[in-house]
Amino acid sequence: MELLEAISKRRAIRAYTDEKVSEAKLEMVLKAGCAAPVGRSLYEKMHIAVIQEESLLKEISGAMKANMHMEDDPLYNASTLIIVSAAEMPYPGIEIADTACILENMMLEATEQGLGSVVVWGSGMTVNHVPGLRQKAGIPDGYSAVSGIVVGEKAMEVEPKELAFSIKISRV
Ligand SMILES: Cc1cc2nc3c(=O)[nH]c(=O)nc-3n(C[C@H](O)[C@H](O)[C@H](O)COP(=O)(O)O)c2cc1C
Repeated sequence: MELLEAISKRRAIRAYTDEKVSEAKLEMVLKAGCAAPVGRSLYEKMHIAVIQEESLLKEISGAMKANMHMEDDPLYNASTLIIVSAAEMPYPGIEIADTACILENMMLEATEQGLGSVVVWGSGMTVNHVPGLRQKAGIPDGYSAVSGIVVGEKAMEVEPKELAFSIKISRV
């Protein structure tokens, strides 16, 4: 797939089948995440947690619902939740930009692999907020969750995005 084709085909997918993501596809998604740019190359200060255990996904979904006063599954029945975390950074806030780069790389590769994905912003704060959940999710001590995506086999299709100037741009 051409890069711009993958960019336009990556859409927020909010319904997933019960089918698990294959190991081969997941590995490609994770490699794409690891290839993302990270400020000052502080890769050792970033962490990627893959959560596929059904009981833990249910627990995180339940905690997100409670935390954000939601009724529907905020993880959309996806089989895989990927949370990016960061250790304390020398430049406050840079971990948010690092995380965004990592998440976008993973979502583009998920698209390439025919998978659906969407950012689930509240997954990070929920995992940090509920005692014990960070450890259960495999996030090492000293790291705080920033945000995550769900990835899975799609139970819905969304039209590719038109490549247009949809953000205000100024040029001087
Ligand atoms: C930082 C960020 C946070 C987001 N949080 C959520 C979320 O918590 N749940 C959700 O369903 N979608 C979330 N989204 C998806 C956006 O709503 C979606 O990307 C946007 O509407 C554009 O649609 P598209 O992804 O199909 O291009 C988030 C996207 C970003 C970039």
